[in-house]
Amino acid sequence: MCNVMDGKEASMILKKRIKKKINQDGITPCLAVILVGDNEASKVYIRNKKKACEDAGIKFIFTNFPDTISEDLVIEEIKKLNNDKDVNGILVQLPLPKGFDEGRIINTIDPVKDVDGLTYPNVGNLVLENECLVPCTPLGVMELLKMYNVSLKGKNVCIVGRSNLVGKPLIQLLLQRDATVSICHSKSINIKDYTKMADILIVAVGHPNLITKDMVKDKVVVIDVGINKEGNALIGDVCFDEISKKASLITPVPGGVGPMTVACLLKNVVKAYEIQNR
Ligand code: GUN
Repeated sequence: MCNVMDGKEASMILKKRIKKKINQDGITPCLAVILVGDNEASKVYIRNKKKACEDAGIKFIFTNFPDTISEDLVIEEIKKLNNDKDVNGILVQLPLPKGFDEGRIINTIDPVKDVDGLTYPNVGNLVLENECLVPCTPLGVMELLKMYNVSLKGKNVCIVGRSNLVGKPLIQLLLQRDATVSICHSKSINIKDYTKMADILIVAVGHPNLITKDMVKDKVVVIDVGINKEGNALIGDVCFDEISKKASLITPVPGGVGPMTVACLLKNVVKAYEIQNR
């Protein structure tokens, strides 16, 4: 279908560009990933990240702690990685098992190595439009919109979902591009009033088929960030079959935003390397 935004192809283009840059600069950036516990989805995501890093020429270090480890030992490992000059990026895979203080763990990461852009300085600098590391999924969404020439200036953009990882950083990135942004969440009343007005609708809640065709206007651009398991299949937050008939552009799940997130992680690792080496 010609209105489908091919995140797989777009991510290949991005990854090729990054690999070329790494080769030309003769550098070997390094990413360290920490997983606590054995969440199956996290393991799949990490496998994808590892493959993409190694294909691009980024060294990948993986530490998997059991969920019985103490929070202090995780903190100690992060401090070790902070002090290791050969490590440029540190990523703690989320969600952490129950009982771990996510804020304390994430904010132990040196902000210049925080390739997820989740530490306080990176969050603050994003709001203030200073140079910083920005979360990979929102970056992937913005790259995809750019690659498909979707203009944002003055457009009504509705985000559904207010997570720290996706919805909140997207507000800032879209504002920087002069969009008019509304944000809906689980306590919003009549989400449809907002989604119906959207020229561009971005959905990131993790609720299968939440958005139906009656909730969008004709020619809308739809970005579906949701990844939900239904039996053996993966589906998004948007009813793809019915909305793809109405939308001017729409991302599929899988093969939409997911691959772009991984490509943007590579981009952030190279950016972190450059910040640390100038
Ligand atoms: N879990 C799901 N997405 C992400 C991500 O982008 N970063 C981290 N650290 N954990 C995740």
